Amino acid sequence: MSFPYPSNMPILLAPMAGYTDIVFRALCVSFGCDLTYTEMVSAKGLSFGNAKTADYLTLGDNETSVAVQLFGHEPDLLADVAKKVCDKLGERLCCIDLNMGCPAQKIVSNGDGSALMRTPALAGAIVEAVKKASAVPVTVKFRKGWDGDTCVSFAKVLEEHGADAITLHPRTRVQQYEGTADRSAIAAVKAAVSIPVIGNGDITSGQSAKEMLERTHCDGLMVGRGALGRPWIFREIKASLRGEPYAPPTVEERLRIALEHAERIEVQKGAHGLVELRKHLPRYLVGMRNAASLRVRLNEAKSVSEIRQLLLDSAKDATI
Ligand SMILES: Cc1cc2nc3c(=O)[nH]c(=O)nc-3n(C[C@H](O)[C@H](O)[C@H](O)COP(=O)(O)O)c2cc1C
Repeated sequence: MSFPYPSNMPILLAPMAGYTDIVFRALCVSFGCDLTYTEMVSAKGLSFGNAKTADYLTLGDNETSVAVQLFGHEPDLLADVAKKVCDKLGERLCCIDLNMGCPAQKIVSNGDGSALMRTPALAGAIVEAVKKASAVPVTVKFRKGWDGDTCVSFAKVLEEHGADAITLHPRTRVQQYEGTADRSAIAAVKAAVSIPVIGNGDITSGQSAKEMLERTHCDGLMVGRGALGRPWIFREIKASLRGEPYAPPTVEERLRIALEHAERIEVQKGAHGLVELRKHLPRYLVGMRNAASLRVRLNEAKSVSEIRQLLLDSAKDATI
């Protein structure tokens, strides 16, 4: 078994459809994130040669290590696509991650994502097939269960069929994102298998990262929503795990990081970046004085360069 991650106690950016694009991944890496994941990619879409789907596999020029997350439910098709992904990305591919946790109706209605938690034998067959075809480690991300707690037995099936590591987001499919992530489920899975277990769910600060580790003894931490509008969280978590003090960015620094995000999007996507930016920017403003009026002005801006100017002016104002 090979440890699929680039460091001993990796801090990972979770795959998030609509958010973890080239730009956001690079920004998180610049703040110390050890490994990022693509948004989930349809194996079927890739097998049909769908250009938009294939675009999810485009990496940034400086992106040296990434996990590609695939979803699907057909072992042979997933295996075939995994091989093609390995051939295409070569050494820049860290691992293939299989999505067995997505709760969205349009995904589970096809038997994909968390629907696979109801068909563990099929999930095992998928892991086995993809393992045989893949030149890199194969990992799986899943949930606590469909509507109850089945994650320990499911994790054992994945391990038996050759998964190199697993990530658990301990909410059921029925819960979606409601309630709190059940860390005792991660602790139970960690105690039951010998492959690495990555803990995910509700890590929003250095302190909560530490608590996750202490409570579950997991082998790495994955941060999702806690990184949106706060890519510096990776630096904060690493300081906290080292027992070092961490000074969060000031309002001016936060606005400058948002500005950097806007500039990176402009370089990557040009005028098309406006839609992307509108998703990310409000998250940088949470808790800031005058956030509401700045949010409105950012939303009304007609171009990425107008947004850049607004952020620059606001950052200057914040220093006064
Ligand atoms: C907008 C959004 C998109 C997501 N997309 C994916 C995805 O493509 N693949 C996946 O495995 N999980 C996806 N997730 C789930 C996250 O990876 C993560 O498991 C979940 O948000 C819990 O972690 P958190 O509390 O740190 O956010 C998504 C979550 C959000 C909020």
